[in-house]
Amino acid sequence: MRNSPIGVFDSGVGGLSVFHALRELLPNEEIIYVADQAFAPYGKRTKSEIQNRSEIISEWLIAKGCKLIVVACNTATTNAIAHLRESFSVPFVGIEPAIKPAALGSKTGVVGVLATEGTLSSELFQTTAQDHAKDIDVISQIGHGLVALVESGKATSLEAERQLQNDLAPMLEKPIDHLVLGCTHYPFLRQALGRILPKNVTIVDCSNAVAKQTHRLLEQHQLLHNGRGDTTYFSTQYPDKKLWKLFGVDDVSQIDI
Ligand code: DGL
Repeated sequence: MRNSPIGVFDSGVGGLSVFHALRELLPNEEIIYVADQAFAPYGKRTKSEIQNRSEIISEWLIAKGCKLIVVACNTATTNAIAHLRESFSVPFVGIEPAIKPAALGSKTGVVGVLATEGTLSSELFQTTAQDHAKDIDVISQIGHGLVALVESGKATSLEAERQLQNDLAPMLEKPIDHLVLGCTHYPFLRQALGRILPKNVTIVDCSNAVAKQTHRLLEQHQLLHNGRGDTTYFSTQYPDKKLWKLFGVDDVSQIDI
């Protein structure tokens, strides 16, 4: 069981931001990465569609022998992780907008959250935001078309910068001092964000916290492994080689699930 792989999934290449943090902290673990690109973006899908896709992918990863699954997607975590934990016995680690560290670090008392519609409308997000609403003003904003821009290799384009500018304009009228990236695709927009955000705004991305939590859980379940650290990548659609290459991945296989 120790030498079994860790499964990681997202709707697309966004979860690679989490994968990179995992790889850095856990260089000797085998990882299987699944991008559900045939069903991306998740952000506009219904809760039951997201649960259904998350279940199918988790089932596939478990059939591959995965000892733990990282849901490297805020939309899937906030809509489906409770369902996954009820359905399967392997441990799951999820990612959701990191409002808490932003709230703790904020001096102005106003923080921004940029995420998908699916994440912002989820019960889990609403409860977390409300829990912090006593001490802090949380300004949330849907990212329009940002996932599609990252998925088409345009993360650093002028188009991405313009779209971000439009989406962030309302919250930048308020004195936010933290911007929580509530979607795993958004860390790839850092360059464009850097050109737009005022210097006093700190970007909050919790990929490293997810990697730490994965390490903790593996340790707790005595599942840490000291292997070769192989990675295999799969997509639910015919892989766009040029796109994956942009993300440093040479070899992706298509799966039909
Ligand atoms: N990367 C995902 C997230 O963290 C999903 C984006 C999407 O497919 O809409 O929310």
